[in-house]
Amino acid sequence: MKRDLISMLDVKDDLEEIIDLGIKLKQKSKKGESIELLKGKNLCMIFEKSSTRTRVSFEVGITLLGGHAIFLSTDDIQLGRGETIEDTAFVLSRYVDMIMYRAKSNEAMKELAQHATIPVISGLDDKEHPCQVITDLMTIKEHKGNLKGMNFVYIGDGNNNMAHSYLLGCGIAEMNVKIVSPKQFWPDDCYVKEAKKFGARVEITDKIRDSTKDADVIATDTWVSMGDETEKEKRIKEFREYTIDKKLISLAKPDAIFMHCLPAYYGYEVTKDVAYGKHSVIFDEAENRLWAQMGIMVTLYKQSSFR
Ligand code: CP
Ligand code: NVA
Repeated sequence: MKRDLISMLDVKDDLEEIIDLGIKLKQKSKKGESIELLKGKNLCMIFEKSSTRTRVSFEVGITLLGGHAIFLSTDDIQLGRGETIEDTAFVLSRYVDMIMYRAKSNEAMKELAQHATIPVISGLDDKEHPCQVITDLMTIKEHKGNLKGMNFVYIGDGNNNMAHSYLLGCGIAEMNVKIVSPKQFWPDDCYVKEAKKFGARVEITDKIRDSTKDADVIATDTWVSMGDETEKEKRIKEFREYTIDKKLISLAKPDAIFMHCLPAYYGYEVTKDVAYGKHSVIFDEAENRLWAQMGIMVTLYKQSSFR
């Protein structure tokens, strides 16, 4: 048996344990203590899309854990020339101990995980971005002390990978989650239904006015995700009322935090004064990719018995 991380639902039983491990590894590493929990292990990272944070944080993370990373772009490997995902999964499983995959589609992600005999960790696909949301929940826990009962408001593209993983992640953590988005960009129903199963308050609305009232956390993401580029002009028009500005932040709780997974496009989903303002934790969030993913890699590897 091996454990994968493709959806937030894959960590529904141990989300807070993984977050706490990430926090512990961060503290230990900053004190100069050894955290080589994956000594000699190899991680293969396959990228079908661009990345700054995911690539660097996974590579540095496995190195700090005593292991090694191999970067593969689909432009350079046989997968990009028609070798099957199935054969790629079989072959890589013979060489390395874990795979991180940034995929164009959730179908490809699931296919790789199905055939690999080692843990597969999603570095994002078109449906979810679980590593980012686990990181964001870790960041909220660091700033707020806890997760349960927090009011989380996401404004922007409600039908992208971040919105879907936020719905599930907030649901699992028993946070109240509100997605504010034009109706044509509301989340896929299955994510809303799953989030509600955990008993959290889930609200989907297109009303941006007053939407941040009493919020503990306000988050957004780009209006034009990777793969949506052909719709850029249309999307900018459709989302134009949904920019997070100082006025929206001022309605939230005085100690509310602002989050963005980055990359950000200032003047569109958020104004630069908010992103760089006193409520913003966007660079703590970026840093925490490193620590949260170390918690993820250690947990998945230790709980797999594939050798
Ligand atoms: N947030 C995030 O996943 O960033 P990258 O696309 O730079 O990896
Ligand atoms: N929703 C964005 C996230 C980038 C990290 C995208 O898929 O491009």
